[in-house]
Amino acid sequence: MLGVCYYPEHWPEAMWATDAKEMAELGLKYVRIGEFAWSRLESAPGVFHFDWLDRAIQTLADAGLQVIMCTPTATPPKWLIDLYPDILPVDIKTGHSRGFGSRRHYDFSSENYRREAMRISTVLAQRYGTNPAICGWQTDNEIACHDTTHSGSANARTAFQHWCQQTYGDIDSLNTAWGNVFWSMEYQNFSQIELPILAVTETSPSHQLAYRRFSSDQVVKFHDEMIAILRQYAPGQFITHNFIPMHDTQTDNFALAKNLDFVSYDNYPLGRTDLFFANAPANEFKRFMRTGHPDFSSYAFDQSRGISQSGFWVMEQQPGPVNWARHNPRPEAGMVRLWTWQAFAHGADTVCYFRWRQVPFAQEQMHAGIKRNDNSPASAYAEIARVRDELALVSDLTTQQVQAKVAIVMTTENQWVAEIERQGDSFNQHRVEFSWYSALRQLGLAVDFISPDSELTGYQLVVAPCLPIVSQAFVDRCKASQALLVFGPRSGAKTAELSLVPQLGPGLLQQLVPVKVLSTETIRPDCYESLHFTDASIASAQYQSTSWREELAVPADVTVLARYHDQSPAVVQHGNCCYVATLTCQTFLLELFAKLATAQQIPLLRLNDDLRVVQRGALQFVFNYGSSSHSFDAPAGASFLIGSSQLAPFDVAVLQLATTNG
Ligand code: GAL
Repeated sequence: MLGVCYYPEHWPEAMWATDAKEMAELGLKYVRIGEFAWSRLESAPGVFHFDWLDRAIQTLADAGLQVIMCTPTATPPKWLIDLYPDILPVDIKTGHSRGFGSRRHYDFSSENYRREAMRISTVLAQRYGTNPAICGWQTDNEIACHDTTHSGSANARTAFQHWCQQTYGDIDSLNTAWGNVFWSMEYQNFSQIELPILAVTETSPSHQLAYRRFSSDQVVKFHDEMIAILRQYAPGQFITHNFIPMHDTQTDNFALAKNLDFVSYDNYPLGRTDLFFANAPANEFKRFMRTGHPDFSSYAFDQSRGISQSGFWVMEQQPGPVNWARHNPRPEAGMVRLWTWQAFAHGADTVCYFRWRQVPFAQEQMHAGIKRNDNSPASAYAEIARVRDELALVSDLTTQQVQAKVAIVMTTENQWVAEIERQGDSFNQHRVEFSWYSALRQLGLAVDFISPDSELTGYQLVVAPCLPIVSQAFVDRCKASQALLVFGPRSGAKTAELSLVPQLGPGLLQQLVPVKVLSTETIRPDCYESLHFTDASIASAQYQSTSWREELAVPADVTVLARYHDQSPAVVQHGNCCYVATLTCQTFLLELFAKLATAQQIPLLRLNDDLRVVQRGALQFVFNYGSSSHSFDAPAGASFLIGSSQLAPFDVAVLQLATTNG
């Protein structure tokens, strides 16, 4: 259930056996190794050095640990770059080659790199694919990180031209699909096609979307080829990949996950909170500066469970301050334990910490480990030991499933649409999605993330915060669903090629809710206007309509749930489908979802800002993200396995429920 990331190549061999022994004593079962070790494994073309890795694996195995081996392709060595300079990707903002000296310095369209990456993967898989100490593989490392999905290289351009030919068939179809008659952008043949980068001003949104689809396909193709090699030579070992959060990726995560056994996620709540909430006012931000936002890690856990379609792992868990955010605070005492339990609560099967020991040299020397660089235990050590002991009290955790009645529909493609066509600076698709998620979580609702291709059966509330492109197949599934459906602004507004739909927004969704979007405006978030429910019992409360607002034409048989300050309709419902035509404040979302969930007879909690509750099978987990104590009333018949109804600051409680229905 617990593991760690370890770099034997960073430490004298004399330390390995003690490290392994201490890992086992700490309750760690898995050790991930090798993802950046290419230069130590192959010092020149075909000159391999496996002796040290063989000994490291054996040392770990002797201590009873299981090893996750990685393909080292995130760090092509210098000799390889010198041999094939076209491996380096080209920065799409400057057109310059991105240099050697860090990591992920490769271009997914370099045929030389594809061949070399598959060669080293084959060599490793052949050597370790039947080694009983190796339980599984991690492909590469955070394959979509550091903005390397996109490259502006000549190789990328040629591959894009080929992709366009495959996708559009003939050049007239492409010109029509992209609207190239506009500004005389028409092409006469596929070999003229440019990448949509470095132009004087904005390039066509359709062209940009095609380039993003192509770039994502290149990553998936590369990754799938590596998986196929591992499947061939390591048939009895699992294959996973460590994903970065959905909001930081330019690759279609559902496609990337498709051929893996399960998804892993790298959880850095403080580093990522610092970046995600960079513009939050200090007084709001400070509350979760050392904890992360209460819903931020679980947002990624639930997404990981969704793309994994089974259990998932946390392959890297922050154990202390990191080195790469704008500011890198220390977690509150107790948070490493809390984050670990939160991952388990949301469906993780294993949590691995990054890293065993703080390394005294190079880029990550300021990044904490479980141990300090003088080998003394850092603060996370005792917290992990506590989790080890507590896990023994929750025996059948991984056989239990998170069962959500609420689903959020997400696609990477629609994230791209919102990025390409911002229209208003304050519309950030992920912030919108996160605010919807956070409101649902504050109501104590378990949430699944699903793709538009998923079955909707079993859900009672399905929400889509931002889904500009929808297919008729998805609409047909919606029609057949018993769930209450809620679509956010922009939904259905675009064709698959990112043009306006001919019937006006919400396009195909008009089959579910027959309204028309007559106009769209974006306004500064601090220039919000009022919004109110029409329901007489709550009509007096004023909420905010902000940032993105659509003007709706609403037929008489559609119910208006909320109105703008000028009494025009803002939120409407027709049968089991609602359309929300504006971004709103968080309290409005809370009221709206509470009202809709109640209508669907989904039991709710009204949690304060600090407490979060989630259920996995017959286990209920309660988390206190706050700096004051909180009490929590256990459901009838439940017993505490860990903690009590009084939660100290940053504390966790785990309850055994009488039934899986809570
Ligand atoms: C992760 C990465 C690790 C390490 C870590 C530091 O994103 O996979 O290799 O760099 O960040 O926090």
